Amino acid sequence: MTRNFFVGGNWKMNGSLSQVNSLVEILNNASVPSNTEVVVAPPAIYIDRVRQAVKKEIEVAAQNCYYKASGAFTGEISPEQLKDMGINWVIIGHSERREIFGESDDFVGAKTQYALSAGLGVIACIGEKLDERESGKTEEVCFRQLKAIAEHVKDWSHVVVAYEPVWAIGTGKVATPEQAQETHAALRKWLAENVSKEAANNTRILYGGSVNGKNAAELGKKEDIDGFLVGGASLKPEFADIIAASS
Ligand code: G3P
Repeated sequence: MTRNFFVGGNWKMNGSLSQVNSLVEILNNASVPSNTEVVVAPPAIYIDRVRQAVKKEIEVAAQNCYYKASGAFTGEISPEQLKDMGINWVIIGHSERREIFGESDDFVGAKTQYALSAGLGVIACIGEKLDERESGKTEEVCFRQLKAIAEHVKDWSHVVVAYEPVWAIGTGKVATPEQAQETHAALRKWLAENVSKEAANNTRILYGGSVNGKNAAELGKKEDIDGFLVGGASLKPEFADIIAASS
């Protein structure tokens, strides 16, 4: 089965109203190949502005959500509120949520479960730190993180896995296509052995970490790299090149 390519843009805590308008123009002028899904994740405050302005081929995601429908959770956003505003995707478990805000594997798993139950698609993030890679623990760490997510997933058709080696995020030190492919293949094998062959074959596994307009095409050629989760370059005109690289 051929998996549709998936290009995510994670704007993180970046942007102003004028920059959002410029990014929307870049997106509306971008050519989106028919077999490619494009999902951009603005800061929460701009989500509705972007959703109302981007062309229909482009979906809008939240960068995070909580695991309750409503209540005394100051500062949080519920999956139901995102659905209420026409948002169908959410990023969960980004390494910055894990490192800066202390999100555990179990918390990521619980949020994934709840977001899926509320009808959202989940971009579930995993990835090892530099010292873990250098000590040969990449697969151990990624399998541990993936297991904590997989325990809460019944229907994989609404899950996209984003492998984002922490040492490549925001550093310009992109994983080589061979490094990324090796880990993606191991993750797909883990899915086949621990979930099902169908989940392994159908689940998109994205690469994230210093993807840009120059390296996207080479990375995208690898058989187990089904797309990207792009940070810095999603805030630049070259994001259109990354989208086009998927064709
Ligand atoms: O979620 C994507 C992000 O972590 C990658 O960031 O700036 O290395 O593309 P960047």
